[in-house]
Amino acid sequence: MNSFSSLLQENRVFSPHEDFSSKANISSFPQYDELRNKANSNILNHWNEQAMNLHWFTPWDTILNWNFPTAQWFTEGTINASYNCLDIHLQTANRNKEAIVWEREDGITASYTYAELHERVSAFAYSLQSLGITKGETITIYMGMNPEAIIAMLACARIGVVHNVVFGGFSSDALKDRINDSQSVCVITQSTTKRRGNDVALFDAVSNVLPFCPTIRHIICKQKPDLSTHDITIPIIDWDEFIHHEHQLEAIPLPSEHPLFYLYTSGSTGKPKGLVHTTGGYLTHVRYSFSLVFDPKPDDMYFCTADIGWITGHSYVVYGPLMHGMTILIYEGALNHPHPGKIWELIQHHKASILYTAPTAIRAFMSAGNDIPHSFDLSSLRLLGTVGEPINPEAWMWYHTIIGNSTCPIVDTWWQTETGGIMISPVPGAIPTKPGTATIPLPGILADVVRKDGKSASANEGGYLVVKHPWPGMARTIFGDDERYTSVYWSEFPPNSEHNGMYFTGDGARKDDDGYFWIMGRVDDVVNVSGHRLGTAEIESALVSHPSIAEAAVVAKPDDIKGNALIAFVTVMKDRSIDLDALKNVLINHVAKEIGSIAKPDDIRFTESLPKTRSGKIMRRLLREIVTGGVISGDTTTLEDFSALEKLRSDED
Ligand code: WT7
Repeated sequence: MNSFSSLLQENRVFSPHEDFSSKANISSFPQYDELRNKANSNILNHWNEQAMNLHWFTPWDTILNWNFPTAQWFTEGTINASYNCLDIHLQTANRNKEAIVWEREDGITASYTYAELHERVSAFAYSLQSLGITKGETITIYMGMNPEAIIAMLACARIGVVHNVVFGGFSSDALKDRINDSQSVCVITQSTTKRRGNDVALFDAVSNVLPFCPTIRHIICKQKPDLSTHDITIPIIDWDEFIHHEHQLEAIPLPSEHPLFYLYTSGSTGKPKGLVHTTGGYLTHVRYSFSLVFDPKPDDMYFCTADIGWITGHSYVVYGPLMHGMTILIYEGALNHPHPGKIWELIQHHKASILYTAPTAIRAFMSAGNDIPHSFDLSSLRLLGTVGEPINPEAWMWYHTIIGNSTCPIVDTWWQTETGGIMISPVPGAIPTKPGTATIPLPGILADVVRKDGKSASANEGGYLVVKHPWPGMARTIFGDDERYTSVYWSEFPPNSEHNGMYFTGDGARKDDDGYFWIMGRVDDVVNVSGHRLGTAEIESALVSHPSIAEAAVVAKPDDIKGNALIAFVTVMKDRSIDLDALKNVLINHVAKEIGSIAKPDDIRFTESLPKTRSGKIMRRLLREIVTGGVISGDTTTLEDFSALEKLRSDED
């Protein structure tokens, strides 16, 4: 592994590079400061101005209706997301500009101009409508990273159908839960997608769960599968036969608060929750943040490596860049396949100018050595971004030096599925950066670090990361569970005599002497693995659903590449005589089947019992200490014995 530690001085500051700043929309700190002061002194006016940059069919009458903790933005206004991504470009120079450039692992490529994308989306929307799918109903999209997935999203948006994209890496069981919870009436999928040389059978997963998904009326499938081996009672509609190019549907004006999508994400308890994002406010926040953070230029080739199954894919692969008329580059497959430098080859070949990716990916490419990126021409890059987890300063320096040639600014962007869009990030032409911090909140976003009593923490004092004023991209609720929404996000800091209530992010953070935010990770039982968010409770319930397992506790262990690894402690059913080594693999595969490969524990440790407090709570802190400090050996062939730790029980009560 390269060591950039020598280059790292404590709190080293990188001023925006002159080459970048001289062409940036916001090119100096004073210019930024003026914008921030104006925005933060009148937040509603700020968002009002930002909303005016979108196309509305009818104007709004109220900027914000705030009834803690329920927000409605731009009420009475009518708008359409698909119109703002496509139709607005048709009379401009963007009409014949490429909107999507797509490559697949096996070398297949395609591209669509804005006019072509508009045509396909309008035709697909027409066909959806002719199936009788109507405004407010939900469609689950379960596809790989290809133009069809984006066409499906935008076609839903065009007619007010709520899209619910499920990451193609999730298992059929996870898919089933998301279809049923969202009450989807249709699934749009494809026969197979490519991943590291394998064909991932998406249609088969859909077909397996169909008998358990009573709300589904239709399935639309790209590359019609061989149905002889399936026993399916509803018709499978072939994507290509479904689109009739002679039928084009106009975008429907929708109320600003009409739901645009649900997106499921893990929490600290129970099943994943479907966050509800609506139209007008979400688009306003995403358009604004994209413009500030990515400083878009007409000739950019924009490459965000996120999958559309995650919020980054929604906001900064699809909606943000398309509203700005960008050309987006998407890749269906693994970025180090068919060769370890594939990501750099894509940048060289397509002359990508902006790269937005996750620290995990950066660390993995860093560990593969500098020769690989050095053998490609990366001089087209002008801006680099990261998202999803804290970036360690070594990886930041490598990204800056080896990929960015020491000239590209790095935007470390902090946000969440719940926030809809970027909240804390440098504005690249104006804000000096420091490796490892997302710097300061965007103008109009009132983020802070507070103590348990809600008062602001002092400089360098660790505390809870909160947001003190509603913002337009915020999730409105958890689908079907308003109470859970209130209790998860708004009950930690409810309104009192000192403040009007604050949104709690679930993250711990500190602000340094310059007011820069350093994210210290989750303070709840959510673990960030490779930039993906997983609930330990979910993985534990997958483990105990196996007949051999009595109890399970999952904790995170720091990992050089993935940020965190998952270690599961389990107790086996008493009546079983079991080969523990074999069981370990069975359990790992069982979790992959229940949730998906991303949730696979990195290690399973068998124990006689789990250490518990007198009131019966599992002592997770102790387990975390064990996995980080190696207090107990990880010999998997014998059961671990925590009896020596019994005396610690009283400390935890
Ligand atoms: C959690 C949200 C935002 C899209 C991808 C993840 C962590 C996110 C950063 C960052 C440190 C970060 C937080 C947050 N996180 N970005 N730049 N620095 N931590 O979305 O799955 O909703 O996860 O990811 O812990 O709460 P998500």
